[in-house]
Amino acid sequence: MNRKVSAALRQGRTSWPILGAGPPLEQGAGQLMGTDLTSTAQAMVASGKGVLAADESTATIGKRFASINVDSTEENRRAYRDTLLTTPGLSDAVSGVIMYDETIRQSTADGTPFPKFLEAAGILPGIKVDTGAKNLAKADGEMVTEGLDGLRERIAEYVELGARFAKWRAVITIGDHLPSRYCIDANAHALARYAALCQEGGLVPIVEPEVLMDGDHSIERCFEVTEATHRVVFAALYEHRVALDQMVLKPNMILSGKGNARQAGVDEVAEQTIACLRRTVPAEVPGIAFLSGGQGAAMASEHLNAMNSMGPQPWALTFSYGRALQDPALAAWKGETSNREAGQQALWARCEANSAASQGKYTETAA
Ligand code: 13P
Repeated sequence: MNRKVSAALRQGRTSWPILGAGPPLEQGAGQLMGTDLTSTAQAMVASGKGVLAADESTATIGKRFASINVDSTEENRRAYRDTLLTTPGLSDAVSGVIMYDETIRQSTADGTPFPKFLEAAGILPGIKVDTGAKNLAKADGEMVTEGLDGLRERIAEYVELGARFAKWRAVITIGDHLPSRYCIDANAHALARYAALCQEGGLVPIVEPEVLMDGDHSIERCFEVTEATHRVVFAALYEHRVALDQMVLKPNMILSGKGNARQAGVDEVAEQTIACLRRTVPAEVPGIAFLSGGQGAAMASEHLNAMNSMGPQPWALTFSYGRALQDPALAAWKGETSNREAGQQALWARCEANSAASQGKYTETAA
């Protein structure tokens, strides 16, 4: 029995300190600090480094390819990911790459499996393990992320393939009467079950509760919804015995909705984002790696830079961007082998810029 609980029993107390009136905490439910997962989580958010999200599902990468008139064949997807992952010097700014199920099984042009190539380059291989956001039953306009069935077995296979960390994205929509508490609860529960399974199986979970930018809501509303979401997510992580020093949080920034007439400026976004995170994210979490969520590439760097210029925070603040790192690379590559180097240069430019932003040293402006 837990020491505090047995002391309470000796003193004849009928309610439990810390635990409220609930049943006593079983022994062994707590998590020890200082394991390999702790070091992996710290390495993911090491100074000057962030994560490249290259885990688009086949459907999503198909849309990205359509925008540059490239067919989404397995070989084109492999060639594109090969271009990104083999960018010279990538490990100077990138600690880890999130891959999709198809990608983690593919290889570089010379036949080296991508996870092996990354590991040798000093980059942690990561894997998206959710199977996507689906309509939430009886909740019009809201979604819940699926993928828990068979997850323990899939994690074991991904570890075998060389993965060191994982990602699961939950999506919260802001609307006139949204989000519902039901939607936040369902997504937080799934995120927590995923995170516990990852830690049990030897992967560091990236916990991604994304409050979408879509809509005409104000920045204040984004703050309110993100705060509520984080509070429910961290309560669920605690209930599911997730060790906070062995995870990375991947949140949205606090932004005006895309369709709102008043678009908050860079300093306001940085101040509101930090205020929301300080209210809701325990200091034991080693790092926060933002998603870009549809912000332009330079704007995402400016926001990250402004936050890191505000002085030290309890956690590292870095990037785990998809579109904000890849869009310029995709546009330069255009599906042509001859543009491989141009694609790599474009990717590197964003990685270098965000590495600087993660240290408050970014100097370009979105304008
Ligand atoms: P964006 O940066 O394009 O939002 O993608 C990040 C991500 O991994 C979303 O799950």
